[in-house]
Amino acid sequence: MSNQEKLSIAGSGIMGHSIALTAAWAGINVKVWGTDNADIERAKTGVEAKLQALVGYEVFDEAEKERIKNAISFTDSLEECVSDATFVIEAVPENLELKQNFFKQLDEMCAEDTILASNTSGLSATEIAKLTNKPERALITHFWLPAHLMPLVEVVRGEHTSDETIERALTLIKAMNKKPVLVKKDVLGQVGNCLQYAIFREAQYIVDNDIASMEDVDAAIRYSLGRRFGVTGPFMTMDMGGLNTNASITSYLFEDLSDRKEVFPAMKDLVDNGNYGPKTGKGYYDWTPEFTAQMEQEREDELIKWLKKDMKEANK
Ligand SMILES: NC(=O)c1ccc[n+]([C@@H]2O[C@H](COP(=O)([O-])OP(=O)(O)OC[C@H]3O[C@@H](n4cnc5c(N)ncnc54)[C@H](O)[C@@H]3O)[C@@H](O)[C@H]2O)c1
Repeated sequence: MSNQEKLSIAGSGIMGHSIALTAAWAGINVKVWGTDNADIERAKTGVEAKLQALVGYEVFDEAEKERIKNAISFTDSLEECVSDATFVIEAVPENLELKQNFFKQLDEMCAEDTILASNTSGLSATEIAKLTNKPERALITHFWLPAHLMPLVEVVRGEHTSDETIERALTLIKAMNKKPVLVKKDVLGQVGNCLQYAIFREAQYIVDNDIASMEDVDAAIRYSLGRRFGVTGPFMTMDMGGLNTNASITSYLFEDLSDRKEVFPAMKDLVDNGNYGPKTGKGYYDWTPEFTAQMEQEREDELIKWLKKDMKEANK
């Protein structure tokens, strides 16, 4: 699908630089704003490392890597980055007040029909656009980490978002070779995180009640749902299993599932003691540098297999 938008990304952190890479890879020239030189240099290093890894996986060659790099330009002037854009994706820190003020700035700097999209993980689209004069041109486009490898982008409609804004966002996301889903209502957690946290709540409930160990819960997901969900979502899975059987299971099982509203004690203990996962060396698991590198590699290998499959299907 050919792209008509002039794209800028405001914010060059973990998400900003990988969204930019995604756009450039799809043939879209993109401008990226970073707060200062150090921020921009980190983003450039991130782009280089990801591109090099993709060359290593033989997804593309050195010439394509250079083309992609040259399609991304960086600046520390927000005005320069967004003033001639028709579509801006904001990827600044996850803080409502900061995003509201940032959107107000973008609203003043951008042309009237420029679309302002937030990459927020879970804040409200309506609230983020509250200080702008044209909330109909604001929405959420939520890329998943790592943005250059995960196909899903949730396109979330705010209370005032116009149909045209939604259509233009869907067109751009498809042109970036991503798989958009439309979230029709401005709900916290959108779709993906609501599903993820429903599973995570149940996983913790099972361990908390000593029904299975944490390692076995992780294994149960990896070797059953994880495999199948790559092909069939929950509705199709239920259809294929037979709805009569699955309605019967629902009738006795729903009652027993967790409806807990607070953080589970084990997680609270870990967080209260500063154990956040790989970044502190301990979370539910012990994260030595070797184990962290191993798991990152395994996950990347798997995502690359899917990426190659998606690319093959797209070229059919
Ligand atoms: N990291 C993830 O797993 C992930 C996944 C999906 C969505 N998101 C969302 O994407 C957005 C960006 O997250 P990230 O992980 O890239 O963050 P990050 O901290 O890596 O990068 C944020 C970038 O914003 C800019 N910035 C920093 N301080 C700023 C300030 N005070 N005012 C304006 N700009 C500032 C800088 O360019 C910085 O690199 C957040 O809304 C986050 O919730 C993150």
